[in-house]
Amino acid sequence: MTTTAKPTLQEKTAVIGSAPPGTPQYAGPPMTLELWISKYLPALHKVKQKIKFRMLEQMDGPFDATDLMPPGATQPAKYPAYFFMKPVHTFPKPGGLDPAFGPYHGEFQKRTTFYFTKPETIKFWLQKVYGDIKPERAIDLACGIGATTFVMAELWPECEVIGIDLSPSNLRYARKLAEERGVKNIRFYHMDAGDCSFYPDESFDVVNESYCLHEMPTYHSRAVVKEMIRLSKPGHLITWFDWPPAETPGDLARREEIAKRGSEPFMLQYLDLRLEQYLVELGLEDVHRPVRAGANMLVVARKPARKDASVPAAAASS
Ligand SMILES: C[S@@+](CC[C@H](N)C(=O)[O-])C[C@H]1O[C@@H](n2cnc3c(N)ncnc32)[C@H](O)[C@@H]1O
Repeated sequence: MTTTAKPTLQEKTAVIGSAPPGTPQYAGPPMTLELWISKYLPALHKVKQKIKFRMLEQMDGPFDATDLMPPGATQPAKYPAYFFMKPVHTFPKPGGLDPAFGPYHGEFQKRTTFYFTKPETIKFWLQKVYGDIKPERAIDLACGIGATTFVMAELWPECEVIGIDLSPSNLRYARKLAEERGVKNIRFYHMDAGDCSFYPDESFDVVNESYCLHEMPTYHSRAVVKEMIRLSKPGHLITWFDWPPAETPGDLARREEIAKRGSEPFMLQYLDLRLEQYLVELGLEDVHRPVRAGANMLVVARKPARKDASVPAAAASS
């Protein structure tokens, strides 16, 4: 019989993986009072969240989000069932549908400690991966209030950058930010990242997602990954900024804890996705991970180039 040793406290609290020298560094999250309350006094945290949500600006609009439909769409987006079932981040109810979610997200992002929600870090890594390309169209799936989307729009001013998300409040808030900042090459639309059939195959030069695959059941994260590949032009890179797999017993213990506490209820299903292996299985090329920094990683892969149909089969195989 094999017994698995329980991780020590030191293992459980260690930040695994640091950014390579010369790249933006990651200190790991500090234990703020808010985090402490959410961890040890979850009932109090829920009450606090409820009050906070009602005190923030309410980004209201038509309940079917018709104000956020892309021009030319004939139907509002459909929500997958999981979106209603489990509120993430210990929100009092499914946060994505709360009219205050966008402003809450905005507050959170001002003091967030996640590596890839900081504009300077996102910019550094996008530049490192994509080099000096000049894309015409880029899409950021599950864009939230646009943490990555705004950086893409700044990096590629000639590019039409599209952010899609299922939270109407997030999108309305993102649109407000775009107006305040005077960003002209960005559009935010209401769409399920697992069903972007509004857009034809191979219609984007750059396809990206940030921190969404761990917030859904595995069957849906697989659908999102497949959509990303479908949308990408052949031969182009695709990027995923998300949580890394659990790589040590301590790492796994932390994931189990946040899943149990309801902070990230889909985290264990996300581990089942095994993103990097899945990309290899789907036939993507050059799957690699340029950085893991604590609870953050960047995965990059290339969609295979289309075989030139004009080359006779015999010549191509010789
Ligand atoms: C942790 S937030 C990340 C937001 C943003 N990408 C960032 O890095 O700040 C996860 C986002 O995924 C969105 N989301 C969850 N399921 C989705 C789906 N099926 N389609 C589109 N967006 C989804 C949520 O509304 C939320 O905005």
